[in-house]
Amino acid sequence: MKINHHFLDLKENYLFSEVGKRATAFSEAHPDKRVIRLSIGDVTRPLPPVVISAMHGAVEEMGRAESFKGYGPDRYCYGYPSLIDSIRSSYARKGVSLKREEVFISDGAKSDLANILDIFSGENTVLVPDPVYPVYVDTNIMAGRKILYADANEQNGFLPMPDSAVDADIIYLCSPNNPTGAAYTREQLAVWVNYALEKNAVILYDAAYEHFITDPELARSIYEVKDAERCAIELCSYSKTAGFTGVRCGYTVVPQALVREGISLNKLWARRQSTKFNGVSYVTQMGAASVFTEEGERQIEENLNYYRENAKIISDCLDGLGIPYTGGKNSPYIWMKCPMGMKSWEFFDFLLENANVVGTPGSGFGKNGEGYFRLTAFGTHENTREACARIQKLLKKGSLS
Ligand code: MLT
Repeated sequence: MKINHHFLDLKENYLFSEVGKRATAFSEAHPDKRVIRLSIGDVTRPLPPVVISAMHGAVEEMGRAESFKGYGPDRYCYGYPSLIDSIRSSYARKGVSLKREEVFISDGAKSDLANILDIFSGENTVLVPDPVYPVYVDTNIMAGRKILYADANEQNGFLPMPDSAVDADIIYLCSPNNPTGAAYTREQLAVWVNYALEKNAVILYDAAYEHFITDPELARSIYEVKDAERCAIELCSYSKTAGFTGVRCGYTVVPQALVREGISLNKLWARRQSTKFNGVSYVTQMGAASVFTEEGERQIEENLNYYRENAKIISDCLDGLGIPYTGGKNSPYIWMKCPMGMKSWEFFDFLLENANVVGTPGSGFGKNGEGYFRLTAFGTHENTREACARIQKLLKKGSLS
């Protein structure tokens, strides 16, 4: 037999595993230090009461013969209509109308972002922004696809626009962006949609952070843009919206209007899911279905505001130090320039050793991330304030050059 040699083209560790490994090694070597992790975007607020109550109800149902559930409904690839309809109602509030058959329930955006590649030929050329969430790049390296990069940098506000001279088949966009926190307006997304239609390409639009958007100029779904249903698949998750990183639930929209080579991509994805996936647990789906109710929306907004406050604490700290950054508004990520001309991993070590604060080195997200560093607003208030006080002390104005 032969292994998949494309795996040998990957870096040894997935970015967040590498960061975790180094932070743990530091903690073990310095048990007296209280290390604060603002690295991986993992939530800290508990699940909203409405979700807990819905999950309890579902557990009770599973314990009674008359309401017990086995596999979910195969008509919707094991997604329950009540959950699918609540997602449709959330899209309707953005002016987007979806059919039940267009919404697929999954265990999160990360798996779907990787699995969706099953329906595309390995011969396709992929276009990803640089810097970018490493899953887009790593999963395509594993499949041996050719990858092109769209440079995101200070000059374009970390929001690259398409270059008509570049031919791409699969395009990844993430807005608000992970890692830079920058977010596209509807007008900018319309340019990407036109480019994709012109190239007969498909956009994989990662909207995992859309709930952080407060600016009405910014798009919360690519389907707010005309004709996007003919060229875009949208992937979303309850992880950051409702605190589901440990629960696992997400959804992917594959419009029926999306056709390539005369074949419906919706049908291909349904075929793929019904073959390789048995759905998300009933208890999880019922918890998720409560999120986009009126009460659910109110409760998740409380948690989102909590994280927004953290983003403000971090932004204020960087403003005070005169350190440039993007994000922090409409996004839970703050993408800062490393001070004193340090490289990303150099600043990682500097901060870990001198302030016992862990962030994510920008270079881990791509070559344009070199010299940048990502902090997350998903910590507790206490840890965020403490981390910022330590950063302030370490980098206080005047000592930076
Ligand atoms: C991140 O820190 O970028 C994310 O939490 C990773 C993820 O969502 O998989």
